[in-house]
Amino acid sequence: MEKEKLLELLSDMSLEEKIDQLLQVCSYYYEKEGVLTGPENQAGFKEEEIKNAGSVLGGGGAALLRKIQENYMKTQPHKIPLLFMADIINGFRTIFPIPLAQGATFNPELVELAASISARESAAAGLHLTFSPMVDLVRDARWGRVMESTGEDPYLNSCFAKAMVEGYQGTGELKEKGKIASCLKHFAGYGAPMGGRDYNTVELSERTLREEYLPAYKAAVDAGSAAAMTSFNTLDRIPSTGNKKLLRQILREEMSFDGVLISDWAAIEELINHGVAQDKEEAARLAIEAGVDIDMMTTCYCGNLKKLVEENKIEVSLLDESVLRILELKNKLGLFENPYKDASEAEEKELFLCEKHRKTARELAIESMVLLKNDGILPLSENDKKIAFIGPHVDNKWISGVWSIFAKINENVTLEEGIKNLNLRNVTFAKGCGFIDADSGIKEYHDKQNFEEDSRQAEALLLEALKQAKAADVVVMPLGEIAIQSGEASSRASIDLPKVQMDLFEKIYKVNPNIVVVLFNGRPLTIKALADKARAVLEVWLPGSEGGNAITDVLFGRANPSGKLSMSFPYSVGQVPVYYSEFHTGRPFVDNLKDVKYLSKYLDIPNAPLYPFGYGLSYTSFSISSISLSQKELTKEGNLTASVVVKNIGNYTGKEVVQLYLQDKKASVARPVRQLKGFEKIQLKPGEEKTVTFSITEDMLRFYNINMDFVSEIGDFSIYIGNDSQTQNREDFIYIG
Ligand code: IFM
Repeated sequence: MEKEKLLELLSDMSLEEKIDQLLQVCSYYYEKEGVLTGPENQAGFKEEEIKNAGSVLGGGGAALLRKIQENYMKTQPHKIPLLFMADIINGFRTIFPIPLAQGATFNPELVELAASISARESAAAGLHLTFSPMVDLVRDARWGRVMESTGEDPYLNSCFAKAMVEGYQGTGELKEKGKIASCLKHFAGYGAPMGGRDYNTVELSERTLREEYLPAYKAAVDAGSAAAMTSFNTLDRIPSTGNKKLLRQILREEMSFDGVLISDWAAIEELINHGVAQDKEEAARLAIEAGVDIDMMTTCYCGNLKKLVEENKIEVSLLDESVLRILELKNKLGLFENPYKDASEAEEKELFLCEKHRKTARELAIESMVLLKNDGILPLSENDKKIAFIGPHVDNKWISGVWSIFAKINENVTLEEGIKNLNLRNVTFAKGCGFIDADSGIKEYHDKQNFEEDSRQAEALLLEALKQAKAADVVVMPLGEIAIQSGEASSRASIDLPKVQMDLFEKIYKVNPNIVVVLFNGRPLTIKALADKARAVLEVWLPGSEGGNAITDVLFGRANPSGKLSMSFPYSVGQVPVYYSEFHTGRPFVDNLKDVKYLSKYLDIPNAPLYPFGYGLSYTSFSISSISLSQKELTKEGNLTASVVVKNIGNYTGKEVVQLYLQDKKASVARPVRQLKGFEKIQLKPGEEKTVTFSITEDMLRFYNINMDFVSEIGDFSIYIGNDSQTQNREDFIYIG
């Protein structure tokens, strides 16, 4: 439809119809199959409001969404179709590893492919938009939602933001088959809640917000994300959902975002809880004035906008601009011509978990795994050893993460199933213990377990595990968090392994110390005690549908691990937030000054995380030559190249992520000790070498200076190129302007 026709349509709509467009309700109200992803009790909608709301969230499946659309269209005076939205963050039915794991691939092309598969399956299931990518920068592992982000670094997150948006939407038209709209979230700063407690206050200086947190949102906007979601938190004491400066000035004007802006679930009404609105009417006014187009799951807009307009408290033009944006999105998706878009039960059958999709899920899971420690015990041989697989995750099916809301957990391949697919002779399996401790705070799970009665069963599990461990040459221990220990509303003050699992580890260690730990989790954990004793630790996250097969590939050397941490693993929870791009202090600590008192350090632990950003081992070794610079000076329009020769000096073909970091030695404000500015993932056969070249230009040196201007300053810089964020492979250059 032409823009003029949309404008005609808009002018023909009644005030009530316009307000309907601004409401989003959960598909649960139409059919109980829909998924509730927030508190229901706040809502209290009238039947008419539900019937006429302009968009629906949380439902999926061609049959269900076709039925809802068909019924809806029958009663709509202007035949404006519904928009269907849902959280598809790591796959619809073919489930990919969680986004934090995807970050560890350092492979945006593969992540884009996975997003395009998610879009294809979601479109067949009748969806039009996914609430993804979540591009919030995350540095505090206590926060459960770190599993939804690609990590701690603005540059890396920006690369993945672009990859995901382009994967979902393609680079052509949204109405194309198999494409869905993306919705970047959560604008802004949601990834920095104080104390790691979900929904908590965020305190960021404007400089930190702009320099470190905003770039990934901007990358998603630049990639053309059709929608954006506000965040639950306050920034500078102002809740995002009513924050005019943030939404109108920064998002719309500065970043040129012209898509649909939706509140998070109940976030408009929560302006009352934040203490900035007296009631729903005031909350509605603040949100619409800030430019929030869609009210997700509250009666603030539908119950108050009419009155606000009629009493001249807001201009109707505010509503018109929001409605127009929604109509435009519906139009871009081609819904006026075909309200069902790609919904097709036949295609669902053909696409869901098809061989091609499973293959990508397996490949992505493999690339996301991070080998944290290996004394040479890995890879395991398929023939000669007796291997006991002992740990509660050995046959755990729920390895797809909490947001894979349309996944059928039974379709996931467990580790045990993956191993059995290899038909090995000398393997045994035992759980050894339960997943969680009685005081873990997971009510849903806890209620199903009676820990007292289970104690006899626990003893039997342990005895069997010890028997198997004694008889084995190697013990592989699948340990970690269960899915619901991370995700929304799953903050943890302790990020240790559950005690019951650590106890099992210690008991097994006593009878057989040849332990390889396979770690399942949605966040970095504190694993110092475990890592000290285990001979190898393989981080597999929540690896998705093909998890068990992918882990098997890596354990037995059919695939070589190449993942690198996109979020640092703390040495102790007391360090968080801990991240590689920290700032110099006035009293920097270095190892050879460890006995000097008045330095920035802990008395009881090192400053460095246990495993830093960018870190990950391989079954092979790579040598990286010293850096060769094209010249020692960079000018404003110039370009300086920095090259290294990377050689595979081991015995396996493998992939290495070559990482470029820059350090600004002196500036008008303190600068990070180093910042990632480029990376390249290359594959090399044994003995093979490749030159990797990075181009350094003035724009890579920019930052918010003392006057808050985004500029570069002349002076000395260092370049680091290596295979993690701590590399000392360095060269210096001068920027002369
Ligand atoms: O998209 C999510 C958001 O991330 C958290 N609250 C609910 C939304 C819709 O499900």
